[in-house]
Amino acid sequence: MNLEAIEKAYRRYAHSYDHIFGPVLHPGRKAVVDALDCQSGQRVLEVGVGTGLSLPLYPDYVDVVGIDISEDMLEQARQRVREMELYHVSSVLRMDAENMSLEADMFDIVVAMYVVSVVSDPLRLVEEMKRVCRPGGKIVIVNHFRSKRKVIAGMETLISPLSKYIGFRPNLDLESFLLRAGLDVIEERRTNAFGYWTILTCRNGSPEAALAA
Ligand SMILES: C[S@@+](CC[C@H](N)C(=O)[O-])C[C@H]1O[C@@H](n2cnc3c(N)ncnc32)[C@H](O)[C@@H]1O
Repeated sequence: MNLEAIEKAYRRYAHSYDHIFGPVLHPGRKAVVDALDCQSGQRVLEVGVGTGLSLPLYPDYVDVVGIDISEDMLEQARQRVREMELYHVSSVLRMDAENMSLEADMFDIVVAMYVVSVVSDPLRLVEEMKRVCRPGGKIVIVNHFRSKRKVIAGMETLISPLSKYIGFRPNLDLESFLLRAGLDVIEERRTNAFGYWTILTCRNGSPEAALAA
């Protein structure tokens, strides 16, 4: 999937996204924000923030920046921030999460909800998330990975050529993703219906940096 195909897919979704993917994926969003264990004054970056469904979940004592490549999705997010008076959201910006125009080590926490299997290059995304997160900070990902059940995995492989149209890759393999992404995973657990999605809570940087944080 390239950026153009992604933007096109999410332009189609923008107005119906909350109905299709709102409630069904919401337990995962809530579980991610709980896993962040946010502390007062922390800076949080959410990549692929979409229509901003997660934004009301953050506590009002953190500062949240959301980025997304789709202007159509961001319009909905900005409207939500205005209407719900989410003062903890300092900006919602159009930006490619694989090439962020943000300085290194800027955030205490970097979050990606249902984004890893949407971007063109998941490993490049993770590299960027690590770069903008301070050493010892948290990186939390929730995503669907290829099912361990043979029949479901077969169906996921079958529909994977349609990724460009459905707007995500249904068969990203968790083990090879983790092997190549070099993430220091401190907790892995399942969420949403049938435990079909995985939450990965990771510590950024070396174990020494984590101890010093
Ligand atoms: C499945 S939606 C998830 C939206 C939101 N995080 C949620 O919880 O519903 C994936 C989002 O990732 C965005 N996205 C895909 N590739 C991106 C990229 N390279 N940079 C920034 N956002 C991207 C899409 O535009 C879309 O809004």
